[in-house]
Amino acid sequence: MESKITKKPSATLTVNNKQLELPVYGGSVGPDVVDIRKLYTDGKVFTYDPGFTSTASCESQITYIDGDEGVLLYRGYPIDQLAEQSTFIEVCYLLANGELPNKAELDRFTRDITYHTMLHAQFDRFFEGFRRDAHPMAIMVGTVGALAAFYHDSTDIDDPKQRVIASHRLIAKMPTIAARAFKYSMGQPFISPRNELDYASNFLRMCFAVPAEDYKINPVLARAMDVFFILHADHEQNASTSTVRLAGSSGANPFACISSGIACLWGPAHGGANEAALKMLMEIGRPENIPAFIDKVKSKDSEVRLMGFGHRVYKNYDPRARAMQKLCHQVLHEVGDDNDPLLQVAKELERIALHDEYFIQRKLYPNVDFYSGITLKAMGFPMSMFTVLFAVARTVGWIAQWTEMMEDTSQKIGRPRQVYTGPTRRDYVPCAQRK
Ligand code: SDX
Repeated sequence: MESKITKKPSATLTVNNKQLELPVYGGSVGPDVVDIRKLYTDGKVFTYDPGFTSTASCESQITYIDGDEGVLLYRGYPIDQLAEQSTFIEVCYLLANGELPNKAELDRFTRDITYHTMLHAQFDRFFEGFRRDAHPMAIMVGTVGALAAFYHDSTDIDDPKQRVIASHRLIAKMPTIAARAFKYSMGQPFISPRNELDYASNFLRMCFAVPAEDYKINPVLARAMDVFFILHADHEQNASTSTVRLAGSSGANPFACISSGIACLWGPAHGGANEAALKMLMEIGRPENIPAFIDKVKSKDSEVRLMGFGHRVYKNYDPRARAMQKLCHQVLHEVGDDNDPLLQVAKELERIALHDEYFIQRKLYPNVDFYSGITLKAMGFPMSMFTVLFAVARTVGWIAQWTEMMEDTSQKIGRPRQVYTGPTRRDYVPCAQRK
């Protein structure tokens, strides 16, 4: 990646009676950054930023978020336009290569991905090692890293060609692995990918087809799946992407790095929120139960949160939530469930929360996870598969960010420091002399 940061007037910091000049850089849009790389060597202090709320970990040209305005751009293109007009395979090309493809480029890329969707025949044995009731995310964490055991010809991270092949293999094989995790949990036979199908249709067929009858692709549900993947494809330096970058900074192979991203995404504060949000809506059950639930969320001694609400960056409506709500209506209509009681609860919960001072004051709005659970449930997925679907989509974002880091000459192994408040030096006391 060719750096495009621009120099701005420097900042001055006085610390330990020393005045330090800190360089300031600007990007194409968004906040400037203060370069603190020499802060410790020159000032003998660290910055302190648990959760990295005010820390830029890298320069990136992939995704831009304006949290105050509720803007999300993939390589400059607004997420709502991509959700309306693009396809996930085209968005994969855009995120990985930086530009929208022409027809020939798109056809070539589609073919490259399609012809990597199969798994090594021995790979299927991994699934047999899990209990049938294993959470599909446990299966994903366990199996994706094992791809490194099969594809040695694409683990040399210093070879650009191998980086591309590994990227194609991960984008292509994640749906096949995810569908196998789903089939395994149901005790149904695995369904192989079909090369004549598009990405989303292929995935739905691998999930829902059975050998006993022909599977008919529903174009409305296939498009909904494709848009779901587009909406979840990348999101700047979120927790799981930062995990992938940190793992990659040590030189770990891409399969291991993506496996670490899947592990991080599983948490309910992150990718696990779609499953948690649906559980919350089912627990509330009916609109008349909402006020009591909101009281629980607001009471200090309860750990209850409004799942699918709030965001570290968005202090406005998550633009993906709007697109997700529209998708939700389309899918519910298609499956004949326009009056899904969960949607009624979600819409009433959103209406009440958006008018409640507690949420307004904390700038808490629906995020991408608020409506996705209802949509996925209506498509036939069990809750345990929701975060797996998020991981399938986010793989292209993770691998695009990993590639950008590998090509960034300024990057080095990530190794944060700390402020230590533990015991200072003391001598060992033999057991017989202890109280
Ligand atoms: C994703 O980073 C990304 O980009 C992630 C993601 C992506 O695409 O990669 O967008 C995907 O992870 C979306 C977020 C999914 N998570 C949830 O929906 C879980 C519920 N939301 C939260 O737990 C929370 O909002 C976070 C984790 C998303 C963000 O938390 P922050 O920024 O660390 O905010 P905070 O915990 O410091 O909260 C600030 C205040 C607190 O109140 P006070 O202590 O100031 O009184 O807001 C409150 C919090 O208690 N708060 C909530 C709340 N979220 C924050 N109160 C009730 N319900 C919530 N959901």
